[in-house]
Amino acid sequence: MCGIVGYVGKEQAAPILLEGLEKLEYRGYDSAGIAVLSEEKELQVKKSKGRLKVLSALTDGGRAVEGTLGVGHTRWATHGEPSDVNSHPHLSSGRRIAVVHNGIIENYVEIKEFLLAQGVCFQSETDTEVVAQLLEYYYDRSGDVMDSVYRVLHRIEGAYALGIMCRDLPDAFIAARKDAPLLLGYGQGCCFIASDVTAIIKHTRDVAYMEDGEVALVRADGIQVFDALAQPVEKEHHHVDWDVSAAEKGGYAHFMFKEIMEQPEAVRKTISPRLKGGRLCFDELKLTPEEIRALNRICIVACGSSYHVGMVGKYNLERLLRRPVDVMLASEFRYADPLVDESSLVIVISQSGETLDTMAALRQAKALGARTLAIVNVVGSSIAREADGVLYTWAGPEIAVATTKAYSTQLVLLDMLGLYFAQVLGSVTEEESARIVSELQTLPAKMETVLADTEQIKYLASQYFNHSSIFFIGRNLDYALGLEGSLKLKEISYIHSEAYAAGELKHGTISLIEDGTLVVALCSYAPLFDKSVSNIVEVKARGADIVALTGESLGEELSKTAENVLTVPDTHVILQPSLGVLPLQIFAYYVALQRGCDIDKPRNLAKSVTVE
Ligand code: M6R
Repeated sequence: MCGIVGYVGKEQAAPILLEGLEKLEYRGYDSAGIAVLSEEKELQVKKSKGRLKVLSALTDGGRAVEGTLGVGHTRWATHGEPSDVNSHPHLSSGRRIAVVHNGIIENYVEIKEFLLAQGVCFQSETDTEVVAQLLEYYYDRSGDVMDSVYRVLHRIEGAYALGIMCRDLPDAFIAARKDAPLLLGYGQGCCFIASDVTAIIKHTRDVAYMEDGEVALVRADGIQVFDALAQPVEKEHHHVDWDVSAAEKGGYAHFMFKEIMEQPEAVRKTISPRLKGGRLCFDELKLTPEEIRALNRICIVACGSSYHVGMVGKYNLERLLRRPVDVMLASEFRYADPLVDESSLVIVISQSGETLDTMAALRQAKALGARTLAIVNVVGSSIAREADGVLYTWAGPEIAVATTKAYSTQLVLLDMLGLYFAQVLGSVTEEESARIVSELQTLPAKMETVLADTEQIKYLASQYFNHSSIFFIGRNLDYALGLEGSLKLKEISYIHSEAYAAGELKHGTISLIEDGTLVVALCSYAPLFDKSVSNIVEVKARGADIVALTGESLGEELSKTAENVLTVPDTHVILQPSLGVLPLQIFAYYVALQRGCDIDKPRNLAKSVTVE
């Protein structure tokens, strides 16, 4: 997730910007840059791929870039690999405009084509550069910076927090926001913008939060804010009393919880660029409809939680495509002499894009002639670069070792891909397709509902946190979901936990159930609800305590059998795991919290597993 900081005042801007960017490092980044206006009214831009220390060395800790007004940026690559040229700030061709941006400009291709036709030359592969170039295009014609900014904002689609400098605006910079965080800071004789308060807390605790559609003109002696129609807005000021480490986590105690709470937004970012006017668009998919139709085998390969996404995907894709879909652990696939060839599609899933086993499986699939498609979060990662095609999840950086928002975004992306394939193959009816699309549109809001109240889950965690063994049971999609719920719990709480297909219990595992054993019974897969209830009855008869999960419409029915019932909103059956996973993540979190575990960095685990 990119970070933005801007400063205007009497001090030298560059050292303040570098210091602010350092505080945003926790958000994750692959490159960084600053733009500072010199006394001669030149926009000086310094930027580089890699850590901030590279930028600091390049600018002698900021001392080599003189000026009292500037903006800085840490980039988390989305469009274009991490590189010096793709780093922000981006300059317009005439070097009159500099722009930093957090978010995604969804219609950048169309704007770029327009500008290219006007003779504008582009330097980078980024979506952001179109903002700088389009702004200069309008500015050339109107000579009015604010007017040009509004024209640009009316033309671009997507999400943005923008910091904009203009050579001809020597005492101010401009900020704008839509669907990406940006706040204003009011200091003594200076003002700031920042992606979050961490970047400026050393200088001021007096802040205002920009709302969608607002534009701010930031000067040393104050900030004027305007709404989307350029009418002045009075901002409410807030006093921030967080300490710095809490501020880095957005006020949450742990990155994991912050990332759990970020899921609706992350999923929105995954869905929105691929759902236009109710139609699925996979422009980035390097597979033609003919090639999709010619596939005779689909195989999903991944590790850990990404593999669990594949498990859900197997059920959902088979349902949608009416074709066999295999899912394999990457560490097994690579040594299994897999049966894939030119007519196979191997979908690898990886948050980090660096997992060694997944990488090896990808290479093997390619060597066997299979088409490969990667679902990856980290742009420019090894897996993203080596696969024939890549679909980015755009979840933003995930810091906690236990994945949450990467899992959710992978899940929804795989569902969307499945639906797209089904449309191409004609294996789904138009009505069914429209129902799923409509549920996809409301999914982020439904996720927000689940996350809005975590009290019941917190209470259940306080009841069961000292158990030594917890079982998750479920059928079909609930079984796949249970695998993830169980992994989440064991990796951060160190409680032994296992997930079982509920129908399999009586073939051995039920012997482990005794008085007080906690069984988390997942009953959100409505077609097999009654069967799942029967399994609850079986384990209850052996003394198990039950925490059950289902969709709202079945909650009352379930509470006749289970003492503790958690519900999530109803949605299309294939999307139900996207809601069901949230209480399981929160349960794992609170159990680990009660046990005093190191939640963000569990013992023996690494975020990116680059060894076999
Ligand atoms: O980066 P990847 O998605 O390839 O990582 C795969 C697993 O290592 C990962 O999902 C792991 O299981 C998580 N820690 C689970 O929370």
